[in-house]
Amino acid sequence: MLLSIETSCDETAVALFDLAPFFDGRFEQRAVGSSDFLRGELISSQVKLHTAYGGVVPELAAREHLKNLPLLIKELFKCCGVKAGDLTAVAVTQGPGLKGSLLVGYSFAQSFAASLDLPCLGVNHLEGHLFAGDLLAPEARPVFPMVALLVSGGHTELVWVESFRSYRVLARTRDDAAGEAFDKSATLLGLPYPGGPVLSRTAESGEPGRFSFPVAVVDDASSFSFSGLKTAVLRRVQEIGCGQQGVSDEKLRADLAYGIEQAIVESLVLKSIAVCKTTPPASFLLTGGVAANRALRSRLSHELSLLGIPFVVPPNKWCTDNAAMIGVCAAQILARSGMVVNGTVVNGRVVGPTLATGNYGGADVGVRARWPLNQVGAM
Ligand code: KG4
Ligand code: ZN
Repeated sequence: MLLSIETSCDETAVALFDLAPFFDGRFEQRAVGSSDFLRGELISSQVKLHTAYGGVVPELAAREHLKNLPLLIKELFKCCGVKAGDLTAVAVTQGPGLKGSLLVGYSFAQSFAASLDLPCLGVNHLEGHLFAGDLLAPEARPVFPMVALLVSGGHTELVWVESFRSYRVLARTRDDAAGEAFDKSATLLGLPYPGGPVLSRTAESGEPGRFSFPVAVVDDASSFSFSGLKTAVLRRVQEIGCGQQGVSDEKLRADLAYGIEQAIVESLVLKSIAVCKTTPPASFLLTGGVAANRALRSRLSHELSLLGIPFVVPPNKWCTDNAAMIGVCAAQILARSGMVVNGTVVNGRVVGPTLATGNYGGADVGVRARWPLNQVGAM
């Protein structure tokens, strides 16, 4: 059994997996889905705590992880009827993310694994997001080569996934992430944090075409940019005569929200579809917190159906930060790299209890606040 831990930002999350289907080939043969191997998962969100500050406060986030992690693990074991002695391995997010938050989860996982003489595998958080589709039913899982659009409060990456762990980043943001663009624009409209979902709901009653905002850098194929949008929204709000208090007229606010959402969505969709037209992938994965955005889903779904490309969007709980995506990623890495399960050497190579932490390059390098996907190698 595998325990996976995620603490890279403001969600403390843990999950428990049965490793057997990954080691006996049933997962790869698409004979099992997560209802067969995901024994349980728990998540504790800190959104309420950070709302008062209008954004995540790193120091507070780290302290909350420290407080919550042992409690969550205890609760998870209790729910699943599992004891620490039943574990075979531990996996934890090693980066990228907030350094303090990462350090809490990573140090906890290392110590916990060491005390039980178990391997502890460090997982790249972005890579975890790209594996979220593997938690779906076997027939719904993405197929390689796949294009993945990872959009969250911290990341905006368009990635070509040629095969298992073979990544080519096609485009990423130069400045703000897509979720950040939603959140910052929402603040300018006077909407509460986290602004993305609220702005999106507000936009539903907005009038199309009343306000339009620039769709950023369509001419540069390898980057997204959202900082210009933020400035344009600020100017517009000031022109309208709404000061620092935000926009109080409901109709005006909805019309502005509609224009903002459309600009962000168009920028993401245009680049994604251009890539798919040039080299059609076998599937397209949308993931990250912004995947919850209805306008983005429906635009992508429509465009991809015209191209005949299967569109995969995991449920929200697996698109936002969670430990199940870290676990399903780690389980496959462990099964393919070879490790000892119940005293048997699997795949011919033994990964010792202390060695596995340095999975991405040998020596243990600790947490990595910055860790781009193109530094994660195929095995
Ligand atoms: O993945 P996530 O939960 O956390 C990280 O940033 O890692 O993503 C959160 C982001 C926030 O910026 C939030 O505003 C945005 O996703 N978001 C949305 C929607 N739901 C969440 N943005 C637009 N529309 C939504 N429905
Ligand atoms: Zn994330």
